[in-house]
Amino acid sequence: MVKVTICMGSSCFSRGNNHNLEAIRSWLDANGKTAEVTLKGCRCGGKCGVGPNVWINEACYSDVTPDRVPELLTAAFAEE
Ligand code: FES
Repeated sequence: MVKVTICMGSSCFSRGNNHNLEAIRSWLDANGKTAEVTLKGCRCGGKCGVGPNVWINEACYSDVTPDRVPELLTAAFAEE
């Protein structure tokens, strides 16, 4: 099970995690992975300056954009 935690703090949300959340959901749907992931939101993770931040398993990815989502998720599922 891949664990994705997306920062929903106001800074990350306004810097792009609203769009990253849509990109994550649509990648999971398109790849039939919805049942193999735990997708959660979290409050500010204290790294606003480098946001938007997304945690995949134990790794924090900063400055995430929707076009990076497929690469990050593909790598995470490949490690499973
Ligand atoms: S709002 Fe995301 S780290 Fe602060």
